[in-house]
Amino acid sequence: MSSTRHARLRALAKINLDLRVLGVRPDGYHELRTIFQTVSLADLLEISFTPGRRTAIELVDSAQIADNLVTRAARLALDAMRVTGAVSMRLMKRIPMGAGLGGGSSDAAAVLLALPVLAGRVLPVSTLCALGQQLGSDVPFFLLGGTAAAIGRGTEVFPLPAGPSRAGLIVAPGVHVSTADAYRALSPRLTTELQENKIFSFQSHSWDVFGAAGANDFEPVVFDRESRLAMLKQKLTRAGASPAMMTGSGSALFGLFNSRDAMRRALEQFKNEKAIPITLVNRARYRSLWRRALDPHLDVERSVWPPRSRYKR
Ligand code: C5P
Repeated sequence: MSSTRHARLRALAKINLDLRVLGVRPDGYHELRTIFQTVSLADLLEISFTPGRRTAIELVDSAQIADNLVTRAARLALDAMRVTGAVSMRLMKRIPMGAGLGGGSSDAAAVLLALPVLAGRVLPVSTLCALGQQLGSDVPFFLLGGTAAAIGRGTEVFPLPAGPSRAGLIVAPGVHVSTADAYRALSPRLTTELQENKIFSFQSHSWDVFGAAGANDFEPVVFDRESRLAMLKQKLTRAGASPAMMTGSGSALFGLFNSRDAMRRALEQFKNEKAIPITLVNRARYRSLWRRALDPHLDVERSVWPPRSRYKR
């Protein structure tokens, strides 16, 4: 009998409801204040684990993705669990890449959450976060989901209460923005005076994420290079979106609407662009999606987070 265990997962995208860059840190990264939000757009990841003496990690049918974070995540998770065996993965990308939607980070977090469940081990959240940080600044957020504030490199995440479930549109114009390049372009514009203003306005916004308007510090630098993005933002605003913003270091934009009907009417105006309808996904829903995907492999105690394996020893 084969001891292969298999799961089919949805790795959700994120948007940044607010994103302020304060300055360069001693470690070379930038100090951030941001608010992350998971949304319904998702990559699909199939993952299987077969215990064995030798470790082999393969990513099948996903050739267009070089040096994928999911294979690195699998290697880190196996090493941390001190487990050997075969991991086979298939990744179906739905989240546009290089768009500020966190697709690669979410895929990596999905592996960190699922592999211990399939391998029958428990990795505490603190270990998962430490592994996540090694993979990328956005990865720890996807171990939490919902609405969250993040500081530092973006890896210190704090849950925020869920806001209303809103419908939105993501407009992905197909412009690939390198995150490192966007930070390099923004860095010379950062001043101490600006920093203090940003801290105050971020703090007032984080109390009322869904009421007050957020800001994305990358917009001026990325819009300078791609004026089309500024026009798309205006178009979203004119179509009734509030807020209408760029996410992460771009290039995707998002707009949130007061009703599903308002979103559908706006979608009509974006027939010539790649516009994707979304809804915001709160933490309770995020976790229930996870539990459903891993259900056959889960411990009877379903309320624990991260999901716990029924095979645990
Ligand atoms: O952590 P991640 O791999 O997503 O970061 C990609 C690049 O973005 C980093 O190499 C760094 O140049 C820049 N970055 C930064 N400050 C952050 C996050 C990312 O300068 N807080």
